[in-house]
Amino acid sequence: MPESILVGYASRYGSTREVAEAVAAILSEKGLDVDLQPLRKVESLESYRAVVLGAPLFIGLWHKDARNFLARNREALAKLPVAIFTLGPLNKEEKDWAEVKGQLDKELAKYPWLKPVASELFGGKYDPGKLRFPYKLLVTMPASPLRHMPASDARDWEKIRSWAAGLARPLRPNKPK
Ligand SMILES: Cc1cc2nc3c(=O)[nH]c(=O)nc-3n(C[C@H](O)[C@H](O)[C@H](O)COP(=O)(O)O)c2cc1C
Repeated sequence: MPESILVGYASRYGSTREVAEAVAAILSEKGLDVDLQPLRKVESLESYRAVVLGAPLFIGLWHKDARNFLARNREALAKLPVAIFTLGPLNKEEKDWAEVKGQLDKELAKYPWLKPVASELFGGKYDPGKLRFPYKLLVTMPASPLRHMPASDARDWEKIRSWAAGLARPLRPNKPK
């Protein structure tokens, strides 16, 4: 029986990687055997008994490494306990969180075979100084919600740690049917 839990992340600017590191650290503290990896480097799920998948939203979609990972590993993921965390909202406005929850629900609905044992939305981090093409250009467009937005970090580390601490039980292996 594989023992290890994959904590796999997609990250463009590093904030989701840092959250994945925190989640992996909490699971390790709980005595679980954890493997932290960028999703694009994961070739097989054979050696894992469960998966924690972390990805940010960009323009309403999960980071493409997460979408590719889901497409590539559909069969294996359908059989494993999977917990998902998503980064997105850049502030605490209820209206924005509701909108992003809608984006997340739409992403989840594209994978009806995926039945996450847990799914949570966390605030994200934004630094306009770090943007590269094409986002650097995109955020200057008059219609962009990020136009003139200053740097921010809406990650709530207490919420992140407490979510991770509650994962050990739902990530227990599925009972054979
Ligand atoms: C160009 C751009 C588009 C974004 N679009 C969305 C979005 O549609 N929904 C959302 O909730 N967050 C959006 N975000 C916020 C990111 O999800 C957030 O910055 C996240 O922390 C980035 O993760 P990373 O640092 O791991 O790449 C966007 C950020 C950028 C720079």
